[in-house]
Amino acid sequence: MRKKVSIVGSGNVGATAAHWIASKELADVVLIDIVEGVPQGKGLDLLEAMPIEKRDSHILGTNDYADTANSDIVVITAGIPRKPGMSRDDLLNTNYKIMQDVVGKVVQHSPNCIIIVVSNPLDAMAQAAFKASKFPKHRVLGMAGVLDSARFRTFIAEELKVSVENVTAFVLGGHGDTMVPLPRYSTVAGIPITELIAKDKLDALVSRTANGGAEIVKYLKTGSAYYAPSAATCEMVEAILKDKKKIMPCAAYLDGEYGIKGYFVGVPCKLGAKGLEEIIQIKLTPEEQTALNKSADSVKELCAVIGV
Ligand code: NAI
Ligand code: 2OP
Repeated sequence: MRKKVSIVGSGNVGATAAHWIASKELADVVLIDIVEGVPQGKGLDLLEAMPIEKRDSHILGTNDYADTANSDIVVITAGIPRKPGMSRDDLLNTNYKIMQDVVGKVVQHSPNCIIIVVSNPLDAMAQAAFKASKFPKHRVLGMAGVLDSARFRTFIAEELKVSVENVTAFVLGGHGDTMVPLPRYSTVAGIPITELIAKDKLDALVSRTANGGAEIVKYLKTGSAYYAPSAATCEMVEAILKDKKKIMPCAAYLDGEYGIKGYFVGVPCKLGAKGLEEIIQIKLTPEEQTALNKSADSVKELCAVIGV
């Protein structure tokens, strides 16, 4: 049977994620939004691209959650994005209300799905979705680390003038200014980047990564990044649908791993058909652990504000 992915929120990230998923023929896609006409128009437009792309993915735009029934994966991008001068955290209360509304409907129609949360502030919204869904922890994930590490990989590849395919990178922690890029675990063709890039230059790349979202917001002015975020979401969708057992940094509910209990924080995760199949625990230096704890503390603060 064909796989089904529903995407809640047919704005920039949602519609572009539908584009990547359909153009890779990973699944049939349902785009849903509260605004009438937008998901229908974008869905039909994308469907009409399929003969050109030679793909048989079906795309449906709708305002009716009944159309999302029995999805394998539901991606939640509903919410407001950042505008210049806003942090991800400024979105907290508005997006929390949206998340509660959306998750209730998602669960009603797709009780066995895997939820991938994209809406910001990411880790707190993943926590909100986890609590509202009452799903087991392996079926709720947040997308951030794949994006943040892709940004880090881009900057490393540009700095060293090498193929992006040669570069692996890891970014842990919450999706905020306190995220923790890990140069020690980032490599170019297997060589640690700490041996290839001088410390001051590397520090600048780390800082650019941590501020990567704001850099795009500053250019766009009316919204935030969506090509790389939606591609990152698609990579998670693909790993799950194809049961790839792929290790990638995702926001996952921690139950004592890395010394953190009861919160969503970005860590290396193995994704497969069951969703989150394993949290990979790597040894951190005391400095890295301190940075991760600080990042987790900022997630906890946001969760306390909304009481999740
Ligand atoms: P957008 O404004 O283009 O799209 C959001 C869509 O959500 C709109 O079409 C809106 O009508 C819809 N929506 C609002 N309330 C809804 C509801 N109750 N039910 C269904 N749909 C609803 O925003 P964009 O750029 O697509 O960003 C979406 C979210 O993703 C934002 O919160 C943004 O901050 C976040 N984001 C997170 C990233 C990450 O790394 N986790 C990266 C990029 C964006
Ligand atoms: C980003 O990192 C806004 O979270 C979004 O681009």
